Amino acid sequence: MNVYDSARMAEILAPLGYRPVDTPDLADLIILNTCHIREKAAEKVYSDLGRLKPIKNDRGARIAVAGCVAQAEGEEVLRRAPYVDMVFGPQTYHRLPEMVARIERGAGAVLDTEFPPEPKFDHLPTGEGASPVSAFLTVQEGCDKFCTFCVVPYTRGAEYSRDVPAIEAEARSLVARGASELTLLGQNVNAYHGRDEDGEVIGLGGLLRRLAQIEGLARLRYTTSHPRDVDDALIAAHGDEAKVMPFLHLPVQSGSDTILAAMNRGHTARDYLRLVERLRRVRPDLALSSDFIVGFPGESDADFEATLSLIREVRFTSAFSFKYSPRPGTPASSLDRQVPETVKNERLQILQALLREQQEAFNRQSLGRVLPVLFEKPGRRAGQITGRTPYLHAVHAEAPEAWIGTVRDVRIVGLGGNSLAGELTSDPERISA
Ligand code: 5AD
Ligand code: SF4
Repeated sequence: MNVYDSARMAEILAPLGYRPVDTPDLADLIILNTCHIREKAAEKVYSDLGRLKPIKNDRGARIAVAGCVAQAEGEEVLRRAPYVDMVFGPQTYHRLPEMVARIERGAGAVLDTEFPPEPKFDHLPTGEGASPVSAFLTVQEGCDKFCTFCVVPYTRGAEYSRDVPAIEAEARSLVARGASELTLLGQNVNAYHGRDEDGEVIGLGGLLRRLAQIEGLARLRYTTSHPRDVDDALIAAHGDEAKVMPFLHLPVQSGSDTILAAMNRGHTARDYLRLVERLRRVRPDLALSSDFIVGFPGESDADFEATLSLIREVRFTSAFSFKYSPRPGTPASSLDRQVPETVKNERLQILQALLREQQEAFNRQSLGRVLPVLFEKPGRRAGQITGRTPYLHAVHAEAPEAWIGTVRDVRIVGLGGNSLAGELTSDPERISA
């Protein structure tokens, strides 16, 4: 979502004469778009600011801190780095032109971490210029779930869904500018409930079906989902809407019911397994990915074992896993029985080894298969282009650049570290569905 927000910031600033440059030392305005989810990400902001300070001194560049660190600790940012010119949260970046004007007038540092009454999406320009082949589109923001470890409900605010016509207009614009794939974004994207033209509220399943009708759009994805919000309509869309890709990032965090309850996740391990079963019934080749936290306060060896056992049962094709990081202001940070760092490290290694094994097994299964690949951009080596399979594997193949933006059948012939090597099938002119 930060990638999406950053792109929108660039679009808002374009009419003021700003354009992106490649390195900070060429910039007149440097915006750090920050993440507050774990301590490590948040602390990185201060070390980055320290590195940028000399550039400010040399060139008179302005420095801004945007995103969730700004939202959560704006005053602290200005205290620790008083040379910062602007601090603004994820809900106010549509006000960038006013903020820039203020600092250009020399009116002092700007701090804007309001949750404004006007939705920012109503004040963002519709994009111009070429779109990437695979583009992001924010349809929902914020979260009301209040998992006890998480800062998102505080930094991104309450759940909010954009209306269908605005989303569809943005989707059509992205496709007209070259997007073949859209990834719908939201902190809780499947809690989506936006209004259509008639004022009817539709969920994510309905939204996917609407967007699937856009001609020229080949693929739809969405992230990130909550197990509690997977409804029948969404499951059905996975079963019969060909443009909805057979890949789902569905964070479970833990496989222990005790820990899931302490996290306030609102479901059990069994609920999750049942959900996966229902999804696989309509889409047997569905690839699943997840987020895991190890070392949540009170997590015992048996709780951790339960997580490993859930992983063995589901078989994930990819995953993100983290050591629990106590975040200021969240309920879990003040719980007793915090897990020692050494135990967290040990558990993380065991968990990641298992997940890696599953990922490698899944990759090996692809060897020799012919898969439709949406080519997105030139590859690292000359003559190569890269793209993705429906299951989100990166694939590179020797093929003409003119194929970028199209879906082609590719035979998987090799396994790399993070990608697969593909070879064109005998009918290179066939464009796959
Ligand atoms: N500590 C560790 N991981 C966290 N996540 C969110 N908050 C924390 C935290 N305090 C992880 C969750 C979430 C992902 C985006 O980040 O796994 O799904
Ligand atoms: Fe954070 Fe996701 Fe839980 Fe919301 S549902 S509080 S974003 S982990």
